[in-house]
Order: sequence, then C-alpha cells, then structure tokens
Amino acid sequence: MLSINPSALTPAKLHEYLLSAIAPRPIAFVSTIDKNGTANLAPFSFFNCFGSNPPTLVFSPARSGRTGATKHTHDNVLEIKECVVNIPHYDMLYQMNLAAHMYEKGVNEFSKSGLTPVASVVVKPPRVGECFVQFECEVKDVIETGQGGGAGNLVVCEVKMIHLNEKVLNEEGSIDPTKMNYIARMGKQFWARVGAENIISVPGFKMANELGVGWDLLPPSITHSKYLSANDVAQVASLHTFPTKEELDELIKAEFVQEIIEAHKNDKEALTKAIHLRAKIEIERGSLPLAFQLLMIADKI
Ligand SMILES: Cc1cc2nc3c(=O)[nH]c(=O)nc-3n(C[C@H](O)[C@H](O)[C@H](O)COP(=O)(O)O)c2cc1C
Repeated sequence: MLSINPSALTPAKLHEYLLSAIAPRPIAFVSTIDKNGTANLAPFSFFNCFGSNPPTLVFSPARSGRTGATKHTHDNVLEIKECVVNIPHYDMLYQMNLAAHMYEKGVNEFSKSGLTPVASVVVKPPRVGECFVQFECEVKDVIETGQGGGAGNLVVCEVKMIHLNEKVLNEEGSIDPTKMNYIARMGKQFWARVGAENIISVPGFKMANELGVGWDLLPPSITHSKYLSANDVAQVASLHTFPTKEELDELIKAEFVQEIIEAHKNDKEALTKAIHLRAKIEIERGSLPLAFQLLMIADKI
C-alpha cells in the first residue's frame, strides 16, 4: 500500500489521484444566468445529492488550478441565486464537452453547444431540453473551501421543481435506469457509460433495517470457505435468522443432498467442496436461505 501525505504531491498529481480514485462521478450540467440575463451552461462532476428533505444538491465550480480564476457559473450563482441542474446522457457527451470550453464571460454556451434552452417554471435560468431530468434550484449557499488554485466552491442548491421526460419512466412512474443512458466522469480522459448492459440488479440486496446475522456469527467453515467469495459469504451473513434444526434435518434427507453425500462419502474435503459449490449456485440464483442451510449441514455430515 502506498501511503502519501497530500502536501508532498504536486497540485496536478494530487488532482489526478483524487479524480481517478473518486469515480465514476455523476455530472451536473448546470445552467445559470448573469445579472444581465445571459445564460451560461457548464458541466460539473464534483456533484451529488446530499439529502431529500429538503431536496439538496451540491456541485463545485472550483477555481482554475493554473490561474486561480473562478468559473462563470460560480460568479453567476453569486449574482443570481438560481440554477438548473440538468442530468446529461451519452448522446449529448460531445455537445456537453463543447459547453465546457472556456468561452469568455457573457458567451451563451447553449448557442456554442447547439443544445436547446427551454424556459424554466420557477427559476430564470433555462433548462437543457435534451436532458431527460432537470432540477430547477434555488441556491441556498456558496461555501468556499479555499482561495488558491483548485479550491472548491460548494454551491448548495434546493430543488424547487423537477422535470422528468416520460421516455425514461416505467409504468409505475419510476425512473428506469436502463433508459437513462448515464455518463459519468473518471480521472484523466476516462469516462463511464452506464447503459442497460452494464446495470446489475442485486437480488441479495437487503435494506439496512432488516438486520443480518453478521459475518462474525457465521461459523469459520463458512467465512473461511475456499469455494465462496467475500460477496457470497456476506450475502449469507445478511440473512436475519439461522436455519432451524428441523430445516437442517429435513435438508439432509433431501434426494439431491443424499446424492452428493453418496458420491463423496469417502472423501470429506470433496464432500465439503461439492456442498459449498452447490450453495454458491443457490446464492447466484438468489436462494439464500437454502444456501445457508447447505453450508450449515456441510459441517455436520
Ligand atoms: C464532464 C466534465 C466535468 C467537469 N467537472 C468540473 C467540476 O466538477 N468542477 C470544475 O470546476 N470544473 C469542472 N469541469 C470543467 C468546467 O466545465 C469548465 O471549466 C467550464 O469551462 C466552466 O464553465 P463556466 O466558466 O462557464 O462556469 C468539468 C468539465 C467536464 C467536461
């Protein structure tokens, strides 16, 4: 493990480590206006949602690492405390990059990028028509983290109006992630594109209020299994009860278990392996209670 005091790094290297490690980052494509009413549009990947009551988004137009100059977006939100946080998608990646070019103050990046300004409902800056999701926001605070090059300016926004394109909604009115065509920033020239083919649904996912038995209470034969991954073991540990004695007695009598026992009756290690691998298949299928029962009987036979 390489351990580094950040003050020992050049600003460029420090910036590179931070942006490559904290990735992929979602992108806020932010529209603002200056006091003359000229629109400005720029992407910011120092961005996330920080609460839903009130609905709070934060992005950071940082000072230039080279010159220490502030971004037009930062200047604008100090003048007119409103913005729209638009969520970009892959088909607009290069137009969004055009909007990131450092045009002079007063240049409207909607025109430069060819994207469509659409009038907002409760704020003055226009929305980006091509974005599937647009959040009209009031700027509640701008927190400077420093004055030097690379310093952040946290723009704390409260969402006042949400616009969702029906194209990305399912029948229940929820956002279908497979339709969002997400893009996200990583370090250097790297980006992530999260299309339907890259989205996983995690069947063993447990809500935090359903307490799992925990890794520490599982027998070492499970936590140290040569045949299970850490993700496999943790899924079993997330079940909230141990199998009962009756369930285990019943399972030992089951035909498929008897067949495994018969096939490996003279070789304990091969038997453990066969049962653990069968449990692994059940974990992959999402049959976690059965997997837990199999792992518990592996010790007993
Ligand atoms: C995808 C992407 C993400 C970016 N994220 C940030 C960011 O989080 N903070 C920042 O200061 N600049 C970021 N930039 C650079 C700004 O978009 C760029 O400096 C832009 O010219 C700022 O525009 P403005 O001066 O009109 O506000 C990003 C650029 C791209 C392409």
